[in-house]
Amino acid sequence: MNYKLHISENAVGVAKSLAEKIYIIAKNKKSENSFLNLAVSGGSTPGLLFEILAAEYKETMPWKSVRIFWVDERCVPPLHQESNYGMTHDALLSKIDIPASNIFRMKGEEEPESEAIRYRNILVNELSSANNFPVFDLILLGMGDDGHTASIFPNQMHLNTLSESVAVATHPLSGQKRITLTGNTIRNAHEVVFMITGENKAKILAEIVKQKPQAKKYPASYMHSVNDVTIFYVDSTAASLL
Ligand code: 6PG
Repeated sequence: MNYKLHISENAVGVAKSLAEKIYIIAKNKKSENSFLNLAVSGGSTPGLLFEILAAEYKETMPWKSVRIFWVDERCVPPLHQESNYGMTHDALLSKIDIPASNIFRMKGEEEPESEAIRYRNILVNELSSANNFPVFDLILLGMGDDGHTASIFPNQMHLNTLSESVAVATHPLSGQKRITLTGNTIRNAHEVVFMITGENKAKILAEIVKQKPQAKKYPASYMHSVNDVTIFYVDSTAASLL
């Protein structure tokens, strides 16, 4: 496993650095008359990134060359306060000029198993394929306090190696159903980036980066790109034990 660490002083610095990375990739894709096929996570951390993208890249980002997919979604309606799409819409999508045809929402309001199947088909139709899995250019991941990523939780490690590209998960505490990309889809991406901030993530991040034996219980420890690279954009508090 090859790790690349980008450590910023604080969460705003992390978001600014990651926004610039996305901008550079998107501009290159536009110059190639291609798309940046980007999958984004939910939770609180990406919210700052979306706000920076909306505030500082509203006019400069080639949004018509950016296609947005989701890493996972809670099985709630899009306007529900827990919806990952809803958070992305409020922080970013509602503030930029991006074609609706570039947005590929996981429909949390649908029956979970049927939505997982529908989203698998979307990925087949919209993305190139390699190794029998869809290929994203960039997947943005977060990491929970328990080491989960996407909606692959420590008690559902089968989702890490499932032969399907998209599956239904269950939050271990709330029982909430989730739609999630599986580990094999994530590891098929050209780039896999974790955005991790906060002191509460420091211990697990250090165990993963230092490849401690106990890291193997964390789904996040299994995530890397198709060329075996994992990129971490972290703040100084999350990196404090590295
Ligand atoms: C979700 C996310 C999830 C998230 C982690 C970290 O739907 O909740 O996709 O995997 O990335 O839980 O969440 P925070 O950024 O809020 O710590």
